[in-house]
Amino acid sequence: MEVIICDDAGSAGLLAARLVAEVVRDKPGAVLGLATGSTPLGLYQALIEMHRREALDFSRVTTFNLDEYVGLPVEHPASYHSFIRINFLDHVNVPPERIHIPDGLADDIPAACRRYEAEIAAAGGIDVQILGIGADGHIGFNEPSSSLASRTRIKTLTEETRGDNARFFDGAVGVPSHVITIGIGTIMDARMCLLLAFGEGKAEAVVKAMEGPVTSMVPASALQFHPNAKAIVDGAAANRLQLASYYRWTYEHKPSWQRHE
Ligand code: GLP
Repeated sequence: MEVIICDDAGSAGLLAARLVAEVVRDKPGAVLGLATGSTPLGLYQALIEMHRREALDFSRVTTFNLDEYVGLPVEHPASYHSFIRINFLDHVNVPPERIHIPDGLADDIPAACRRYEAEIAAAGGIDVQILGIGADGHIGFNEPSSSLASRTRIKTLTEETRGDNARFFDGAVGVPSHVITIGIGTIMDARMCLLLAFGEGKAEAVVKAMEGPVTSMVPASALQFHPNAKAIVDGAAANRLQLASYYRWTYEHKPSWQRHE
């Protein structure tokens, strides 16, 4: 996995946005895998700016969100339907019929999950999957012990994740225990994965995922098997990486076209 250590979350978000924009410019009908959480906010803001100022066009783009809470009305402010619209989709020109978000209100959840996988396949697969990382190493809502071959399905959140996400709800009681998430196998099928992580609170998950053994106990470690995965982190999230100075040196000495400047 390529590890890129940026000065701060702002420059990391901008770099990630440039990588996503390159994919969209090369392939106007690109399929984007979208993540929620506070981490990708700068990336979305930078893409919105590029749409406004540089006419970055999303009119042929298709999007698939990673996950959604089960049983939460889509209009709830903490639903990932609300989140992705407010923070990204309401500000760019992805046609509504090309936007896909798991249906946490489906009567038949296994059928909805199978349909979601089929829709990803019908769209030609995900070109670039944007990812954050949970403090416990989860990607999407694939909690520790998730099968590394998993597909879209219902999952139960750990108490740690419910506690971490309580800030978006009225206290921990309000955080649903169940979610729909695309699987680790689904994520691994994406042609490129971009994992972002910022802040001291992510340092342990980052070192385990990037430099530890590949294990279902750290779902993000599966990305070590991905042929085109990049982790874009800030200094605080990188501060436990054994090879941090090697990653820094490597990136600084790349030709500028490889640095996506
Ligand atoms: C949630 C999401 C993940 C996200 C994680 C980290 O659990 N399902 O996709 O990566 O939160 O969130 P944050 O970026 O707010 O730290």
